[in-house]
Amino acid sequence: MSNINTAIIYYSSTGTNYQLAEWAKAGAQELGAQTKIFKVPELAPQEAIDANPAWKAHLEQTKDVPEVKLADLEWADAIIFSVPTRFGGVPSQLKQFLDTTGGLWFNGKLVNKVVSAMASASNAHGGQEATILSLYTTMYHWGAIVAAPGYTDPVTFGAGGNPYGTSVTVDQNGKMQEDVEAAVKHQAQRTVHVAQWVQKGTM
Ligand SMILES: Cc1cc2nc3c(=O)[nH]c(=O)nc-3n(C[C@H](O)[C@H](O)[C@H](O)COP(=O)(O)O)c2cc1C
Repeated sequence: MSNINTAIIYYSSTGTNYQLAEWAKAGAQELGAQTKIFKVPELAPQEAIDANPAWKAHLEQTKDVPEVKLADLEWADAIIFSVPTRFGGVPSQLKQFLDTTGGLWFNGKLVNKVVSAMASASNAHGGQEATILSLYTTMYHWGAIVAAPGYTDPVTFGAGGNPYGTSVTVDQNGKMQEDVEAAVKHQAQRTVHVAQWVQKGTM
């Protein structure tokens, strides 16, 4: 039984990263970790959302998912992010939230958080890796410990082979092109395991 508090923090317009977050939650829970899913607040204008039926429907479907608060970062021992790429970087919605963590950072509250990240894009080489790596840059500033999956389990190969974090390609209808569920669960469990090692080492 794990006593690792695990926060899965995602942004999603059309549901892909919400699904990745749900799989990560299931993976962490298999280890008995206390696990919560949070979305980052939406910032897009309502007109943009209304113009995209899939976006509008997804926001309605997930209206009860709690929005992440700074206290959730303090609570978490392990944090798994999941975001769609935006021109090879993280969506402004997540960046805005990250930019509110200065106070926690200043007080050393983000040090030794064990983190990893997942991403999606419309194209097979549309910026998944760059998005994850750009998110990790912020994690290094936090003093967090990045628990990337690497090639620690063969499932990574079947999921497209991204060692930085599980990533997926999604078509215009929202269909994922690779089967990444097992890789997501492995990544979540590795993140929890590393958090356990850190917890034991700092007790
Ligand atoms: C403003 C914007 C920029 C995007 N940039 C890229 C990109 O550079 N490469 C790419 O392959 N997909 C790009 N996409 C597609 C999204 O990454 C894709 O819709 C997303 O991964 C789906 O995830 P979601 O269902 O969780 O929203 C972009 C989408 C938007 C709205």
